[in-house]
Amino acid sequence: MRIAIVGVGSRHKMYRDSIVEDYADQHQIVALCDINEHRLMLSAKEIPLVNEQQVATYKVTEFDQLLAEQKPELIIVTTPDFLHDVYIKKAFDAGCNVICEKPMTINLEKLKIILDAQKRSDQAVTVTFNYRYSPARTQIKELIMNDTIGDITAVDFRWHLDRVHGADYFRRWHRQHKFSGGLLVHKSTHHFDLLNWWMDSTPTQVFATGSRAFYRPETADAMGLQGRGERCSECKLSNKCDMTLNMRDQPELKSLYQDAEYADGYMRDQCVFAEEIGIEDTMQAHIRYASGASANYTLVAYSPWEGLEVVFQGTKGEIRHRHIEVHGVFGGKREHAVDNTVTTLQLAGEAVQELDVWSGEGNHGGADPVMLDILFNEKGDKQDKYSRAANHVMGGWSILTGIAANQSIASGNMVDIDQMLQRNGIDLPRPVSIMETQTL
Ligand SMILES: NC(=O)c1ccc[n+]([C@@H]2O[C@H](COP(=O)([O-])OP(=O)(O)OC[C@H]3O[C@@H](n4cnc5c(N)ncnc54)[C@H](O)[C@@H]3O)[C@@H](O)[C@H]2O)c1
Repeated sequence: MRIAIVGVGSRHKMYRDSIVEDYADQHQIVALCDINEHRLMLSAKEIPLVNEQQVATYKVTEFDQLLAEQKPELIIVTTPDFLHDVYIKKAFDAGCNVICEKPMTINLEKLKIILDAQKRSDQAVTVTFNYRYSPARTQIKELIMNDTIGDITAVDFRWHLDRVHGADYFRRWHRQHKFSGGLLVHKSTHHFDLLNWWMDSTPTQVFATGSRAFYRPETADAMGLQGRGERCSECKLSNKCDMTLNMRDQPELKSLYQDAEYADGYMRDQCVFAEEIGIEDTMQAHIRYASGASANYTLVAYSPWEGLEVVFQGTKGEIRHRHIEVHGVFGGKREHAVDNTVTTLQLAGEAVQELDVWSGEGNHGGADPVMLDILFNEKGDKQDKYSRAANHVMGGWSILTGIAANQSIASGNMVDIDQMLQRNGIDLPRPVSIMETQTL
C-alpha cells in the first residue's frame, strides 16, 4: 500500500518505524507532511531511499498536491487532535482510507465533518485505541464476552496520571480545550472507549464535575516557586522545580522540538503552572449506558502513581483489575516504580481467584506490536474475535462521553447524549454489537 503520514512529531515514529522495519515488503511510505520543515527533514532521513530518492515531503499548504502527486491509498494522521478532522475529510474526499490517532476529533462540529465525509466517500478510518490491544485489557474483554460475570451492572473506573506523565499535558498544545478537547476527550477517549468496548455498549447520559486543582500558579507559589519563567529552558527556578522538563540534555527531545522551534515557535517545555492553562486536571463523571449499566469514572493528572483500577460488578460476580504503569515520558521526578498488573475474579459464593494476567512485549503493555500487526500485516489473520480495529462509529462514541462530560461541567446539568446529537444534526448509529464496528 502507498502510505502518507501527516504530522511527524513524537507519535508518528511508531507507525513510520513499523512500516519501514517490519512491513516494507507490503507497504511503502510515499510522502510526509508537516507544518515544521525541521521535523519533516528529521523523519525523512529515517526512511530508506527508493531509487536513490528520499521520500517526498510536503508543507501543510501542499497537502492537496501530495494527494494528487503521490496518490496514497492510506493516510496516517498523527497531528495535534484539533486537526484530525481536516486531514480525515481531505483523505476521504481523495478516496483514501485513514489510520487516525486518538481522539478521532475533539468536538461535535468536527465529528459531523468526519461523519458527513465518511458517508459521501465510503472510505474507512481506523482509530488506533492501543489500550484495546494490550493483552491484559484484551483478557478482560475475553472474560466479559464469555459471560464470566454475567450482565455488567455497575463499574468503578479510576485512571491515575502521575506527575511525570500527567504534567506533560500541561506543557504544550494539550493544555487548551480548543486544541485537545481537554483531558476528558484527549486522554479519556481511551478509557471511555475501553468501557464501550468491554461492555459492548454506548453511553446515554453523563453527569460530570471537573476543576484545575493542581497545575495552577497557587500550587507553585505554595512550593516556594515564585518568579517562574514562561518555560523551563528560560526559568531561573528550573533546578528547584520537580516538574522541570530539560530538553537540552535529552537528545531525542532536543532534536525533535528544541532544535525545531525556529520553524514554527512550538514550545515543548512551557510552565505547567501557567495561569493561561485552560484544561482540568481533576475530573469525575457518572455515566449511564444503553445496556442499563452505569459507571463512575475518575481521572486525576497529578497522582503519586500511574495506572488504572477498574471493578466490574456483574449478575454472576466481580472482576477487579489494577495496573501500575511505568510510562516513558521525559521530565519531572518519579520514584522508582515497577510495572505490575493484578486481575482477580470472584464469582458469587466462591473464593477470589487471582488470574494469570495475559502479557506481551512492547510499548503500552504489549499493545503496540499487536496493533501494528493487525494494521499493517496484510498476510496476517484479519479475523479479530475482539474487533479491536475501531471505525468512525466507535471513534465517535469514544469521544461523546467526554464531550458530554465537558458540557455537563460547564452547565452543571446531566447531559443526554441522544438529545445532544439531535441538536447538532449528528446521525451516529448506536451499534447493536461492537462486531459491526471494525474496519477490517
Ligand atoms: N495512542 C497513544 O498512546 C498516543 C500517544 C501519543 C500521542 N497520541 C496522539 O498522536 C497525535 C500526535 O501527538 P504527538 O504527541 O505526536 O504530538 P506532537 O506535537 O509531538 O506532534 C504533532 C506534529 O504535528 C505537526 N503539526 C502541527 N500543525 C500541523 C498542521 N497544521 N498540519 C500538519 N502537521 C501539523 C507538528 O509540527 C508536529 O510535528 C495526537 O493526536 C495525540 O493524541 C496518541
